Amino acid sequence: MPSVSLSTAKPTTATADALVIGIRHDEDKGDLTATLDLLGFTGEKSQVVVFPSNGLVRAKVIAAVGLPAEPTAEDLRRAAAQAVQSLKNVKTVAMELHAASVEDVGAIAEGVHLGSYAFTAFKSTKQDSQKGVKPLTITAVTILSAFARQTAATAAVERALTVSEAVNVARDWVNTPPGDLRPTGFADAITELAGTEVKVQVWDEKRLEKEQCGGILGVGQGSDSPPRLVRLTYSPSGATTSKDVPHLALVGKGITFDSGGLSIKPGASMQTMKLDMAGAAAVVAATVAIARLGLPIKITAFACLAENMPSGSATRPGDVLHMRGGTTVEVHNTDAEGRLVLADGLTLAVEAKPDHVVDVATLTGACVVALGNNTTGVLTNDDDFGRVVLSSAVMAGESMWQLPITEEMQDLVRSSAIADLRQHNPKPAGGTLFAAAFLREFVGDASWAHLDIAGPSFNEGSAHGHTPAGGTGVGVRTLVQIASDLAAAQ
Ligand code: BES
Ligand code: ZN
Ligand code: ZN
Repeated sequence: MPSVSLSTAKPTTATADALVIGIRHDEDKGDLTATLDLLGFTGEKSQVVVFPSNGLVRAKVIAAVGLPAEPTAEDLRRAAAQAVQSLKNVKTVAMELHAASVEDVGAIAEGVHLGSYAFTAFKSTKQDSQKGVKPLTITAVTILSAFARQTAATAAVERALTVSEAVNVARDWVNTPPGDLRPTGFADAITELAGTEVKVQVWDEKRLEKEQCGGILGVGQGSDSPPRLVRLTYSPSGATTSKDVPHLALVGKGITFDSGGLSIKPGASMQTMKLDMAGAAAVVAATVAIARLGLPIKITAFACLAENMPSGSATRPGDVLHMRGGTTVEVHNTDAEGRLVLADGLTLAVEAKPDHVVDVATLTGACVVALGNNTTGVLTNDDDFGRVVLSSAVMAGESMWQLPITEEMQDLVRSSAIADLRQHNPKPAGGTLFAAAFLREFVGDASWAHLDIAGPSFNEGSAHGHTPAGGTGVGVRTLVQIASDLAAAQ
């Protein structure tokens, strides 16, 4: 990632290879009017045109980027990312995007870091293999802003770096081929990332057996890479008693590959199923970011890791699983595996007695049908906490929308003939609601929100704004924001 610094220098005299200037809709384009008109610049949001400066400013190249009349932080985040991506062979960049607040400065820095992301780990150095992924050449970006000398602006830039690093780690994990990131290897990678700031405990299959985590074991038993549960704990220094700071528990679905199990998926739907650990990636990355930021909040996070494979030892449709806490579940479709691993994770989370629980999961194809590829579904048993989640998402610039958990679905979840619960909706309609009604059975009266990220976790199209192709790292920014907001409300 490029370094980001702040300066009060004027755009005309800033020293850099390229100058990025935001042009707000209907703003007078001054000396650039003729050039921008010839280039067909309409000022549309995030449109970028790059042209030689011809001595108009000190930088050799100018990139003009369109902004709305009153840009939001998210508009600036996208514009910064879009501008960074349009500059090829450039090393240093000065950027003037009209930040109207310190938060805007932070958003621009995030846009730079998020827009600079490229996943190149599996590209060889052969020249024609470079098609598709182009690592950016930018090493340093200077944000030009009147806020540059304020310590709050420097802090916002530092926060942006920590959060963006976390988003990019989550993206790397999602993009890693499923054969290269199986449950045991993922648990090791999480342990390595956690370092010393966050305490890590890994339960292997023997311990999971002892702790009666029948959901995680049931999903993982068809794979020759056994399941894992990773528990992360962050307690801020200075919090001596548990009531000093709020306590947030996070739970992530970490299916390193979802073949569907014996209820096997058709080939085309299986192609992207390395994405199915994006929830675990988001909660782990967010926990580490929250710890590095030193936020005054306690976090207990659970990554429920398993590979959902068909084999002679796999769970069968018709089997009954004994979940942690004693609830029995009749399996109807082994492709609805996420809710089974989350059930154990949620029970463990509630045992830690947090103030709130959030789970993040690529849970249902139905959520993609309902909300598309850009919006996370939010389902909750506590509308007050739901509002915190939704407002934190707005602050973080992530699109989220609430869906209900209906009585109809609760009745269906409780309709198994032979076990306490049935795992799979007998009718396909409302699959997201049914899944959330199932999860709610495991949180008791704890305050809980479920984020279904099946749509936005993976971009099958090409990069846009700060969203790259492939893993997006969705959820990380909202989770960090929820933690900041809960800490600030304390
Ligand atoms: N991992 C999938 C959900 C998914 C679908 C994520 C598309 C991202 C993109 C999940 O485990 C699954 O297979 N869900 C089934 C549930 C069904 C069998 C009740 C689905 O949504 O089709
Ligand atoms: Zn599945
Ligand atoms: Zn799945």
